[in-house]
Amino acid sequence: MNNKRKVIIDCDPGVDDALAINALLLKKDIEVLGITCVGGNRPLEYTYKNALRLVDFFNSDVKVYKGVEPLSIDPNIKTSFFHGENGFGDVEIPYTTKNLSDINAIDFLEEMLLKYPNEVEILALGPLSNLAALILKNSKAFENVKAIYSMGGTFSMGNITPYCEFNYYFDLKALDIVMNALNKNKVVFHMFPLDVTMKVYFDVNEFTFLRYEGGKWGNLVADIFENHYLVKTYQAIGKTFCVLHDLVAAMYMFNSELYDEVKPVKISINYEGEKRGKMSQEHGDTNIFVHKEVDSYKMKEAYLAINYDEQVIKKYRNLNKS
Ligand code: BDR
Ligand code: CA
Repeated sequence: MNNKRKVIIDCDPGVDDALAINALLLKKDIEVLGITCVGGNRPLEYTYKNALRLVDFFNSDVKVYKGVEPLSIDPNIKTSFFHGENGFGDVEIPYTTKNLSDINAIDFLEEMLLKYPNEVEILALGPLSNLAALILKNSKAFENVKAIYSMGGTFSMGNITPYCEFNYYFDLKALDIVMNALNKNKVVFHMFPLDVTMKVYFDVNEFTFLRYEGGKWGNLVADIFENHYLVKTYQAIGKTFCVLHDLVAAMYMFNSELYDEVKPVKISINYEGEKRGKMSQEHGDTNIFVHKEVDSYKMKEAYLAINYDEQVIKKYRNLNKS
């Protein structure tokens, strides 16, 4: 028994998922109950192996659970574009299956939520398919979730269609199921759409810093980001940086003071026509909170401080002075 916050990471690693998973595995004041994987950035067969790579890298004994492929996929989406064929920028990283559970992610979520009602927080970094599958299996268990922090959606420009963000668009059926469930119960849902995540990125200077000051982990981060994501971002939008989407959702869990204070909103989603997947929001008596602002620099510093001592952080501050 301990009094630590209990968290499940539901993810599709994915290079930016890797930073979020890293932050949570190293945080001393939380207990990661498990990592549940979903198909998204790459199919499930890749994402769960990448989660295993990370738990091995950090010598963690947190178990990895295989979930579902998205309930509805648009076959035209090429998921390897930003994350590479293997989801980790095609960098070869060994893994073992010693932390792979033979329990299915949906059964595991259900079990934990029934065992710890109103205690479990879920960090959702991919399509909402596992959560939707849980709702379809046992909606009462879903009602026991304390809070969900979800990277997804957009209220401005999209990254997969002009109107939509990848995670939510990739499984609109799951999004619909989750949004309907949220309308019926009081599960707290913090959404981190592109409006806020696009403000947080590591640029080429920061990757160089990580490579030279960041030890083994910093090197791995620079490798997996620079090998593919950086190149593709440059090709797509002519920028030499990588947006850290999933980390933005993760860091809110420990540094909410760096984000905007927001009022609850009601979300509507258009499921028809050319603007399929487009979201809108209005004030409402809900438990849904949409964040659009963060102090990007302080958030990145807080993330680095989870991994590095003050000496390294001082060098990071110097880097940004010039
Ligand atoms: C989201 O999609 C994936 O590419 C990232 O891992 C992030 O979860 C951004 O749209
Ligand atoms: Ca992700």
